[in-house]
Amino acid sequence: MRRTPWFLGFAAIAILGWAATTTAVSAGADQEAAKPEFYTSKVRPIFQANCFRCHAGMNRRGGLSMSTRAGMMKGGKDGPVIVSGDPASSRLVKGIRREPPVKPMPPKGSKLSDADIATIERWIRAGAVMPADPPVN
Ligand code: HEC
Repeated sequence: MRRTPWFLGFAAIAILGWAATTTAVSAGADQEAAKPEFYTSKVRPIFQANCFRCHAGMNRRGGLSMSTRAGMMKGGKDGPVIVSGDPASSRLVKGIRREPPVKPMPPKGSKLSDADIATIERWIRAGAVMPADPPVN
């Protein structure tokens, strides 16, 4: 029986190792942002400070209630505001980026910081995961 040259074995292990790492990275793309806790601890405070007074509880300006996952996913009078996995196509992102056709959100006052916009985009890119009934206050 011929022995397999050592370097073939080495190459095979290297390739398998590389494949396993690559798969793990792509399958687990931004696992942190895909957890409901990311919404609760990072995203909700931004919405709470800038959006909830018009888009939570009794307030549904533009038909949009952001208090619950159902409301968030249903969207507003012009339809869905979040395209899961695709921040650039999400009208909520157009609003905070002040890109037409969505009116600038929040309508008055200063634009959200770049860091806050990036956090919201990251959350949507990772699937817009949130608890069904997160606390709003
Ligand atoms: C002062 C009240 C107010 C605040 C604060 C506010 N909005 Fe709005 N929002 C509105 C109004 C009014 C509309 C309807 C605008 C129109 O006539 O199209 C609206 C519409 C929207 C829409 C479009 C809904 C649709 O289907 O047309 C989105 C998305 C949105 N808001 C997101 C946000 C986000 C995200 C925040 C926080 C960053 C925010 N809004 C803060 C008042 C507000």
